[in-house]
Amino acid sequence: MDIKIPNHVAIIMDGNGRWAQERGLSRSDGHLAGVNNLEKLAEYIFDRGVKVLSIFAFSTENFKRSKEEVDFLMKLFIKFFKTKFKNLKKKNIKIVFSKKESGLPEEVEKAIKKMEKETENNTAGIFNICVNYGGHSEIVDVAKKISESVLEGKIKVNEIDEKTIEQNLYQTLPPIDLLIRTSGEYRISNFMLWQLAYAEMYFPKTYFPAFDEKEFDKALEAYSHRDRRFGGIKK
Ligand code: IPE
Ligand code: IPE
Ligand code: MG
Repeated sequence: MDIKIPNHVAIIMDGNGRWAQERGLSRSDGHLAGVNNLEKLAEYIFDRGVKVLSIFAFSTENFKRSKEEVDFLMKLFIKFFKTKFKNLKKKNIKIVFSKKESGLPEEVEKAIKKMEKETENNTAGIFNICVNYGGHSEIVDVAKKISESVLEGKIKVNEIDEKTIEQNLYQTLPPIDLLIRTSGEYRISNFMLWQLAYAEMYFPKTYFPAFDEKEFDKALEAYSHRDRRFGGIKK
């Protein structure tokens, strides 16, 4: 069977902590290994012909973790956004962020703005990083933005349709074709609820730091065997 390449892939990068624990390492070591894996994997995914890649880096709920872990992750993001992804930039990939307007440390926000600015005119693909992101919070924010437009007279209530919602999400992206959640958990954990409506789901047991190019190829193979119907009838 021919391998089908999904247009938009999303990854819930889970299992960093358990990967580290199994090796007698700290959770921080697990996050570091996860980030290093992501840099290589993202490049590979675009090389395979995927046009849009969304990743879940930090959820609105992840602030419930210990201060030590949250602080470590924020520092890691700053370093990571500043120094990594040079090759993605060279490959003409645009980097965007899906996030709540506030809540992240100032320095993380600065690194994010810089990265978005540097890549805003790139056209070969889109790398969407979800940080301080929650599917519920995104829908609440959409409701607020549309309500404001109604109050300002920019749109009438009966003109609101699915396109209006899409245009007011944190990023306007094509629908997700393939969702991968690593680590053997079978849940969405508040990730991209609107965009996942008709996504194919793939749940490998592998922890994210070990989810490499070969593992991604297995996901593509599984995706190629799926029969997508979108509510229609099998052909
Ligand atoms: C995913 O790995 C990374 C983040 C949520 C930031 P976890 O840290 O959730 O790893 P496990 O699930 O505890 O193994
Ligand atoms: C989801 O993983 C969030 C990220 C991968 C960033 P979690 O580890 O936070 O999810 P739960 O708590 O197991 O559902
Ligand atoms: Mg987890």
